[in-house]
Amino acid sequence: MSPSLTGKVAIVTGSSRSIGAAIAKRLASLGANVVINYISSASAAQAVADEINNQGVGKAIIIKADVGSLQENRHLVEETLRQFGRIDILVLNAGVMENNVLQDVTEENFDKHFNTNVKGPLFLVQTVSPHLSSGGRVIFFSTSLTRASTVPPNYLIYASTKGAVEQFSRVLAKDLGARGITVNTVSPGPTDTDLFRQGKTEQQINFFKGLHPQKRLGTAEEVSNVVSFLVSEDASWVNGQTILINGALLCELSGIA
Ligand SMILES: NC(=O)c1ccc[n+]([C@@H]2O[C@H](COP(=O)([O-])OP(=O)(O)OC[C@H]3O[C@@H](n4cnc5c(N)ncnc54)[C@H](OP(=O)(O)O)[C@@H]3O)[C@@H](O)[C@H]2O)c1
Repeated sequence: MSPSLTGKVAIVTGSSRSIGAAIAKRLASLGANVVINYISSASAAQAVADEINNQGVGKAIIIKADVGSLQENRHLVEETLRQFGRIDILVLNAGVMENNVLQDVTEENFDKHFNTNVKGPLFLVQTVSPHLSSGGRVIFFSTSLTRASTVPPNYLIYASTKGAVEQFSRVLAKDLGARGITVNTVSPGPTDTDLFRQGKTEQQINFFKGLHPQKRLGTAEEVSNVVSFLVSEDASWVNGQTILINGALLCELSGIA
């Protein structure tokens, strides 16, 4: 049986869709009160919150905030504290991936990726950290691409942002660990979501399926199940780790660029 999260409050960034939505539903099903955060999909966020609130276990509230903005991050935290009174779990799931090779990278493209995937998560931890107590949990999001010995050219910026958050997690595990808070990173492989499918042909998607022994993509629920373990009391001695959730993905991706 999964450990209860009753009485805990979780912020799950980017939880209007895909992996974040699955995590929010899973944590709420275990009793946590959850913050559904989004940037543009208001109706999708509402549907996730309605589903959680109709289940009648953990409660959900919705807070719109661009996690790449420090000001909006502060609003996310202040509003969570105003409505739920505490924060125990921070899941830094929101991320963007718009792939470009070196010659096509623009400053705007670079800033969007680093603001959303790197700067926002770091400063969100800084803002939330004073409110976390012993038993608090922080989860960063990377990608299994960081374990490939080489990476296709169009993943230049995306893969670099994820390399940065893995290092945040290794260092912050020591820093916040002194207060009984764990900081871990999860690294999904190809998971069937909007982010994964956007810009890919069916042939490319089949290529990714073929990299797995089961010849399929991962699901958002399979990622959420691992996150729900990591934020539970059962994972109190798992700290500073990067956990791959990829169904034994063959990480050499040289055929897909
Ligand atoms: N899917 C994969 O194969 C895969 C593999 C490895 C790692 N990951 C990582 O897993 C995480 C989730 O990926 P996903 O596939 O579920 O992505 P997705 O399908 O694109 O969903 C992204 C979610 O993040 C939200 N979001 C995007 N930018 C935001 C911002 N600036 N502020 C607040 N929310 C924002 C979106 O909100 P709106 O609905 O409002 O747009 C949406 O809820 C990401 O960090 C990604 O890098 C995914």
